[in-house]
Amino acid sequence: MSVIFEKIDLLNFSKKLNVLYVEDERILRKITLTLLEQVFHFIDVAVDGNQAVRLFNEKEYDIVIMDLELPNLHGLDATEQIKKKNPEVKIIVVSHKDDPTTFTKTIELGVDGYLLKPIKKEQFFKTLEKTICKIEMKFSLEKEQKENEEKRKILTHQSKLMAMGEMLSMIAHQWRQPLNSISVMAINLLTRKELGTLDEETLLKNLNQTIDTTTYLSDTIEDFQSFFKPDKKAENILVRKVINDGLKLLKYAFEDEEIQVIQDYQCTSFVKVFKNEFVQALLNILNNAKDAFLENNIQNRQIKISSTEDNSSIEICIEDNGGGIHPKSLEKIFNPYFSTKGKHGTGLGLYMSKTIIEGHNKGILKVANTLNGAKFIITLPKNI
Ligand SMILES: Nc1ncnc2c1ncn2[C@@H]1O[C@H](COP(=O)(O)OP(=O)(O)O)[C@@H](O)[C@H]1O
Ligand SMILES: [Mg+2]
Repeated sequence: MSVIFEKIDLLNFSKKLNVLYVEDERILRKITLTLLEQVFHFIDVAVDGNQAVRLFNEKEYDIVIMDLELPNLHGLDATEQIKKKNPEVKIIVVSHKDDPTTFTKTIELGVDGYLLKPIKKEQFFKTLEKTICKIEMKFSLEKEQKENEEKRKILTHQSKLMAMGEMLSMIAHQWRQPLNSISVMAINLLTRKELGTLDEETLLKNLNQTIDTTTYLSDTIEDFQSFFKPDKKAENILVRKVINDGLKLLKYAFEDEEIQVIQDYQCTSFVKVFKNEFVQALLNILNNAKDAFLENNIQNRQIKISSTEDNSSIEICIEDNGGGIHPKSLEKIFNPYFSTKGKHGTGLGLYMSKTIIEGHNKGILKVANTLNGAKFIITLPKNI
């Protein structure tokens, strides 16, 4: 087949489109139909205005090609009714008149092309090409929007899963010691029972301690759960308080890995943040420091957390001595899915932290390497 459209591949797209062709002149209709059949998926034919409107109300069409001089209902009136039903549909009108009144009316109706009879083949295909291009552009845009929305949904879901994974690992650390002590108490009771040395006082003491410890276990779960609930609104909170809430959840994980946290809070102001989200953003940064210590086998593991303020903003600095971020990675660490940890990483932690800090909380999150580690700087506007 000879080249119909200048745009390569457009024919592939147009072969999916449906057309309503309205024309009362039999010979012209026959000739045009053979041309249309080369381009479109299927073509319905109407021979007057009323039939055109009826067909359009029954079926979905992408393009209507409308002769204006029609019996029963004039092409302009049919066009108006069709546009009323679906303003999105593309309409090409065909007429042997080019008087300004008709032309103005077609523009008012939002018609996409105007062809004068006798129709020249080249002109006909050009007008079709323009119209099909418009449809294709809209189609691609909608497809892209749909895909982006889909990607965003997946990302949110994965971020939630990641946060849950991190939470489980933190709970595991918080639980190890108390679980161990319950087991020690039980073994102690069993041994004494076997040896016949179990007195009532020891029994009661151990049972009471077991109850206390299990209460602690369930409190921990509640602590964590409350932090993973979405915040309803922003809270005014002391900077040191929000940081300490985060550190509380990491206490045992950090103790187990011998990580020392040095705190220096110069800032005494309140910040307005979505607290739980903000704690999550901090946890992601702190957990990364922990990963860096382990990966680089750092001996003297330290994280310095400081806060300062000026008239307009508050700055929180989280600095570790874990070896720092590879200079090649620096640009990418906030991108979703960027991770240097292989299957141990999701690459969503810092993306999430940045989204949280810079979205709802209207702050800025930046990173820099220091002499022997990484430094994350959070800047928050003061009481807005
Ligand atoms: N404190 C840090 N020290 C060294 N590298 C870091 C630090 N924080 C983040 N990174 C780098 O940034 C990458 C992205 O972090 P993140 O988004 O939390 O994903 P993940 O921890 O799943 O890899 C990490 O894989 C790591 O290479
Ligand atoms: Mg991480």
